[in-house]
Amino acid sequence: TGYFTYDPGFTSTGSCESKITYIDGDEGVLLHRGFAIDELAENATFPEVCFLLLNNHLPNKAEKEEFENILRRHSMVHEQLTKFYSGFRRDAHPMAILCGVTGALSAFYHDSTDIDDPVQRKIAAHRLVAKMPTIAAMAYKYSMGQPFMYPRNDLSYAENFLYMTFGTPCEPYKVNPILSKAMDKIFILHADHEQNASTSTVRLAGSSGANPFACIAAGIASLWGPAHGGANEAVLKMLEEIGSVERIPEFVRRAKDKNDNFRLMGFGHRVYKNYDPRAQVMRKTCHEVLNELGIKDEPLLDIAMELEKIALSDEYFIEKKLYPNVDFYSGIILKAMGFPTSMFTVLFALARTVGWISQWKEMIEDPAQKIGRPRQLYTGQTRRPFVPLAERG
Ligand code: CMC
Repeated sequence: TGYFTYDPGFTSTGSCESKITYIDGDEGVLLHRGFAIDELAENATFPEVCFLLLNNHLPNKAEKEEFENILRRHSMVHEQLTKFYSGFRRDAHPMAILCGVTGALSAFYHDSTDIDDPVQRKIAAHRLVAKMPTIAAMAYKYSMGQPFMYPRNDLSYAENFLYMTFGTPCEPYKVNPILSKAMDKIFILHADHEQNASTSTVRLAGSSGANPFACIAAGIASLWGPAHGGANEAVLKMLEEIGSVERIPEFVRRAKDKNDNFRLMGFGHRVYKNYDPRAQVMRKTCHEVLNELGIKDEPLLDIAMELEKIALSDEYFIEKKLYPNVDFYSGIILKAMGFPTSMFTVLFALARTVGWISQWKEMIEDPAQKIGRPRQLYTGQTRRPFVPLAERG
């Protein structure tokens, strides 16, 4: 029934046209709407980058203020949504909670989400970006058995998230500008990355005309895996397992062994065959945060730096062009900031939400858009006669 290309993992299939994010994997270049990621991370705030991804231009002063106000206005979640948390076990993985609760948003905005209406599409995007820090912080609070903290409109996006996560009614979080700047940068570095697994999942789910909140829940599910966003959690677990600089060669040996499934987490990328530009900024931010917190002897950082050095000079990694990716350093920063390992991928999801919803919006607005429907190469049984139950062996 027609010709198609067999392309497992879609390594050579372009699924859409996009004007949002450009990657040159050989040169290690990442641009959002034409702006270099390192310049954005150094000079812009996360809400500015959100505006840029959604609107194709950096906001002027008035637009920036208006956008920040919109995010503030939408940052609270429906009080009824807070009830969802108590249905989860306290030890549930926060990604499971994030996936469930974000999907549940579709039940709250079901009637207002007419995807053919550009105004509704915009509101859905604003709601998602604004509510994700609240939902993520609530997942953390629930795991700790602490009361939920309502968002505060006098704080910036990153400050507010840190406040809702680490503040308590008895001792409000004291905003540390260096840490909130670092948080903001981490959000910027994760904001979008063109047609990766989770973004493609969001587009595929949305291609049927599904509710955008449910599509984002699908993206969260896809991000969770250790080959994708779950890698930041896996990196930290790996560094802890390595335990000391002396044991690195053993793990490098294992990573190179064809008969061992072990991979160096935080290394390699489907598109980057050069240093991931996000990892460069992350590495610098990592040192800034550890400095600010007065952490001098962080054994995990020593292991990470040595691992990077060894891997980058090893023939196997050079030949296969395996460089550190964005997840390699982020875990160390997040750990130093006080986040438990299980929250790392949640932070990735929080920041990636703007990328997902920008890509969803672009797809819905693309006249060439069709329902996503890949083909398959059938390798199963040919037709055979039905066997009645009594005759089955
Ligand atoms: N350690 C050791 N060997 C590796 C690694 C690694 N981290 N990554 C790839 N290889 C080898 C792999 O065994 C294969 O060897 P061969 O050609 O001999 O079979 C070759 O390099 C190509 O790997 P691949 O799996 O075919 O490449 P891919 O494009 O399908 O996978 C990847 C990309 C990111 C899934 C993979 O590099 C990986 O598993 N890395 C570790 C997990 C990780 O850090 N993921 C985060 C990615 S960046 C953030 C994000 O997307 O969320």
